[in-house]
Amino acid sequence: MKVEVKTNHLPHVTPLVLVVSGNNPPNPSTYIYFGQLNDNPPIVGVGMKEKRFTYKLIREFEDFTINIVTEEILKEADRAGFLTGKKHDKSKIVNLKYENSSSIKSMRIAESPISYEVKYRGELKLFDHNLVYGEVMKIFVKEEYVKNGKIDIHAISPIVSSYHTTEYYSIGEKHGKWGISLKKEE
Ligand SMILES: Cc1cc2nc3c(=O)[nH]c(=O)nc-3n(C[C@H](O)[C@H](O)[C@H](O)COP(=O)(O)O)c2cc1C
Repeated sequence: MKVEVKTNHLPHVTPLVLVVSGNNPPNPSTYIYFGQLNDNPPIVGVGMKEKRFTYKLIREFEDFTINIVTEEILKEADRAGFLTGKKHDKSKIVNLKYENSSSIKSMRIAESPISYEVKYRGELKLFDHNLVYGEVMKIFVKEEYVKNGKIDIHAISPIVSSYHTTEYYSIGEKHGKWGISLKKEE
């Protein structure tokens, strides 16, 4: 039997990311409303309240970076989600290092194993959030996680979360690959 639960704060699991916009100083903030929206060109989107300082910076710089959060940087990612760049220089409070991007002005987080350099391409006003979307221009990955051009996402072990429980988790076991249903039983 299934029971009905409230529809606010969906039990929907997505990767936790640090969005950085700007460079002087860079402003890191934490986002769980994040996803890939298009293949070619690769477009990612973030559900973001307009009052976020990140939003103001994205409109000013017209770019941002997406930095995947792992266990090593989780506490600092959490901290970045409880402070606003309107009042604080988070680059000094959040204990992370920054590096220049190669295709955009906003900086990347050095400790994050995967960083996307993203150009702002538009937004969709929803209700209490805007869907801010952009084109992934470049992706940088720590070399130890790349083999023959493929990223070992399982080894990176990104943190995932859900607004429903506000708990952080790691991803679990591998259960095969897309197309397992198409393979003949051996
Ligand atoms: C775990 C976590 C996830 C968050 N996810 C979102 C999100 O998806 N969208 C959003 O607008 N704010 C989200 N926030 C809130 C912002 O990170 C927070 O308001 C932050 O202080 C904004 O900083 P800024 O004003 O410097 O941009 C989240 C906070 C935490 C702790």
